Amino acid sequence: MLKIPNRNNILIDNYGRKIDYLRISVTDRCNLRCTYCMPEKMKFMSKKDILSFDEMYQLCEHFIARGIKKIRITGGEPLVRKGILEFINNLKSFKNMNMLDEITLTTNGTLLEDYSQELKNSGIDRINISLDTLNEETFEKITRRKNLKKVLRGIDEAKKYNFKLKINTVVLKDSNIDEIPELIYWSHKNGMDISLIETMPLGDIDGDRYDQFFSINEMRKKIEKKFTLTKSSYTTSGPSDYYKVKETGKNVGFITPLSNNFCSSCNRIRVTCTGMLYMCLGQDDKIDFKTILRSKDYIKLDAAINLAMRIKPEKHEFSIKPRMKNTKIERHMSVTGG
Ligand code: 5AD
Ligand code: SF4
Repeated sequence: MLKIPNRNNILIDNYGRKIDYLRISVTDRCNLRCTYCMPEKMKFMSKKDILSFDEMYQLCEHFIARGIKKIRITGGEPLVRKGILEFINNLKSFKNMNMLDEITLTTNGTLLEDYSQELKNSGIDRINISLDTLNEETFEKITRRKNLKKVLRGIDEAKKYNFKLKINTVVLKDSNIDEIPELIYWSHKNGMDISLIETMPLGDIDGDRYDQFFSINEMRKKIEKKFTLTKSSYTTSGPSDYYKVKETGKNVGFITPLSNNFCSSCNRIRVTCTGMLYMCLGQDDKIDFKTILRSKDYIKLDAAINLAMRIKPEKHEFSIKPRMKNTKIERHMSVTGG
């Protein structure tokens, strides 16, 4: 039974932050193997532990009734999961009833060539495309796969449908730092903003994160040698700190979880593909919604959401130190969603 949110049951955490943004990872599987994200021989979750789309829908319905206004579909690569379009289409009905403002998608772009039109029809408003390089060799080095051309064709296809498109680029000391100004120029020329992201210590990978980490504040200084940046008031309720590039007229966002802490304005919670609710990307506290959903005890669901609000931490505790092979946070970004 659909419940309409009212002022008494919306989500406000212990630090007074209003939570209206839910990110849900629909799968931990991916058709790429980015070196900063997962090892080549990634052990994926067992299928029985992954929430069905029915279960995910029930969860979203419950959160919407508690005032969630924006849902981002992430992964892994969301578009590799069968049934994804139908799931998004079902969420669209909440938009039609004005209970949801926006459904957005994070994708690596490899399947946009095939799915853009259907995504538009299913009500996706905004797409963040992860792209770390425009160079085929570097693409293969970073993703361990050869799909750059397909991604670029996918972006061209998506441009036809007037989505708000944004490029997300992870800045990697050992691969793409010299290419960043070109990536900014290319994204802007193609009508897309771009956000630059620091690597975060999420899950074990084959290499050493310290060799990859490059501070975004350093990167900004490098970019300022090529472009004129002025602080922009633009915001998307995400963690990006936006600057306007005078030469192109578009924005570049800086996401700096390690160098700066953006937690005070955090408005979001995350559900993993296995139904764990994480209050914060950078902490291990979680609530198991899968067990509650599978027991069909919906009163417990509400109680669990209330508990989440009480224990959402004030800020994350990320750090990357030299030769820190084992990361502090054990789960991969592909499980929690970016
Ligand atoms: N650190 C930073 N960004 C990451 N991503 C995946 N793993 C990590 C990590 N460990 C990025 C992807 C994508 C977004 C969802 O998160 O490249 O842009
Ligand atoms: Fe896949 Fe994204 Fe992880 Fe790359 S970063 S392996 S595209 S989930």
